[in-house]
Amino acid sequence: MAAIGLVVDTETAMQLVDELFAWFQGFAFPEYQPEEELPRVPGNSSLCHVQVTKWLQEAGVRQDSSERSMRCGGASADVAKFTVEMLNAYADNAFESAHGPVPIVGECMACHGGGGFSDTRAKEDCTECHGNLPDPHPDMDF
Ligand code: HEC
Ligand code: HEC
Repeated sequence: MAAIGLVVDTETAMQLVDELFAWFQGFAFPEYQPEEELPRVPGNSSLCHVQVTKWLQEAGVRQDSSERSMRCGGASADVAKFTVEMLNAYADNAFESAHGPVPIVGECMACHGGGGFSDTRAKEDCTECHGNLPDPHPDMDF
């Protein structure tokens, strides 16, 4: 397999990947839908499972439906478009990060990213997975 050449230096690549993932989590997919009117739903997660399940609930169709296939085809087109636009902006020296982690990430990571108790590493909305637990901090006032 041929080696994949890096388009940008590592630091910039991380900025571009962060931008892509942050946009992906907030974007209401699918924008590209040439065949019919599908609902557009933001997933608040980079996980396919979470994104698709929320969309299925909103659309009221089954996971093996043609609508679901169209939704994911459209979402793939949306991601390709956004990525190309981002790389073109970078090539024109015009790339600016416009999306970032939701604010709750900073709040949680203030305690959990500092090497102290339950150190972790994450950039996605913590409440998406931990929010349904009983309050993990009964004695703390957030
Ligand atoms: C003020 C500091 C602080 C903040 C802010 C904070 N935590 Fe914690 N968290 C703790 C401490 C202290 C513990 C318990 C000590 C340990 O487990 O090491 C804990 C434990 C946890 C645990 C494991 C315990 C359990 O019951 O499952 C999870 C998961 C967790 N926190 C998630 C979060 C999330 C999500 C947020 C943001 C909504 C958050 N924390 C914000 C201090 C904090
Ligand atoms: C995609 C789901 C998901 C997201 C999003 C997520 N977590 Fe977790 N987290 C987990 C799972 C799964 C574990 C490991 C199982 C467990 O201990 O609950 C875990 C474990 C933890 C622990 C250690 C718990 C312990 O028992 O000591 C902390 C602290 C934590 N996460 C904080 C966060 C913070 C802060 C964020 C947001 C920046 C976050 N998580 C986002 C799924 C998630």
